[in-house]
Amino acid sequence: MERILAGIRPTGKLHWGNYFGALQNWVQLQKKYECFFFVADWHSLTSEYADSSKIKNWTIEVLKDVLSAGVDPDKVVLFIQSHVPEHAELHLLLSMMAPLGWLERVPTYKEMRQELVDKDLNTYGFLGYPVLQSADILLYNANKVPVGEDQLPHLELTRELVRRVHFLTGKTIFVEPQPLLTKTPRVPGMDRRKMSKSFGNAIYLDDEPKEITAKAMQTLTDPARKLRSDPGNPDVCTVYDFHKLVSDEATLKWSDHGCRTAGIGCVECKQAMAKNAIEYFKKFREEKTKWDNKEAQLFEIAAEGSKRASKVARATLEKVREALGINY
Ligand code: TRP
Ligand code: SF4
Repeated sequence: MERILAGIRPTGKLHWGNYFGALQNWVQLQKKYECFFFVADWHSLTSEYADSSKIKNWTIEVLKDVLSAGVDPDKVVLFIQSHVPEHAELHLLLSMMAPLGWLERVPTYKEMRQELVDKDLNTYGFLGYPVLQSADILLYNANKVPVGEDQLPHLELTRELVRRVHFLTGKTIFVEPQPLLTKTPRVPGMDRRKMSKSFGNAIYLDDEPKEITAKAMQTLTDPARKLRSDPGNPDVCTVYDFHKLVSDEATLKWSDHGCRTAGIGCVECKQAMAKNAIEYFKKFREEKTKWDNKEAQLFEIAAEGSKRASKVARATLEKVREALGINY
């Protein structure tokens, strides 16, 4: 069976962008692959080091979200990155061979530094973000890594690092991981920018029905449709983008036709979308409340996963130490 590895960086509870872009996919992948899924808490530290007090809670939220969405810890290896210190050792060894120029050229490096202006990302750790990600992937010899477009350069760097390590040591140690591109296009936020916690435009998986409806009402529509009597264009409407995620074919047709002919109003259309979204995440909300006050159990599940992950990770590290001649 082919092996999959994927991580989520905890920065809070998960929103629709995380769900439709990644988590939904994880639930499907666990049926067909041997899966290693983890919470990348050290990756959060690369940008949150100045105030790391929330990382624990974020990690808990992400674990709850992952489990409530249907990831089954009996089928997959579910773990927390910082519980498997082998990630740090491989990161260190890879960093010795990672050319600075490669890291400085990674597009997310420049973008994140421009976007997160309130954070000082001029650190050694932040530059090394993709090296840590490479270690995550290579420790488990993952064949495939499910990613969105934005992560492709990180995966490319991982592959380049594999070739470099093999060239420098003269040994074949790692598997070159291939990307498994997520089909859902980038999910917009209520304001049409990329959905992101830091933009304040996100709808969360555990938002209560009231909140979902309120957010639906705030969501940007076709800006050219000013009056109820103006026909609109769903192709440029964020509400319609959301419909595509949570509504069935019949509703999509109703919305598309009603919009183009001015047969329906935007409020009606938003209400229909909210109603479907509430239904879509009903089971999720129920599952998530079951984890209330069950932190100890969550960490037990993660500990069990970390044990299984460590076993695989240690075997890989043994090979790396041997290839470098430092296995004494
Ligand atoms: N960088 C990824 C993101 O921001 C998270 C991540 C860390 C990851 N390590 C990984 C994803 C390894 C896939 C494989 O989404
Ligand atoms: Fe968007 Fe619906 Fe309004 Fe059309 S009717 S602009 S699809 S909210």
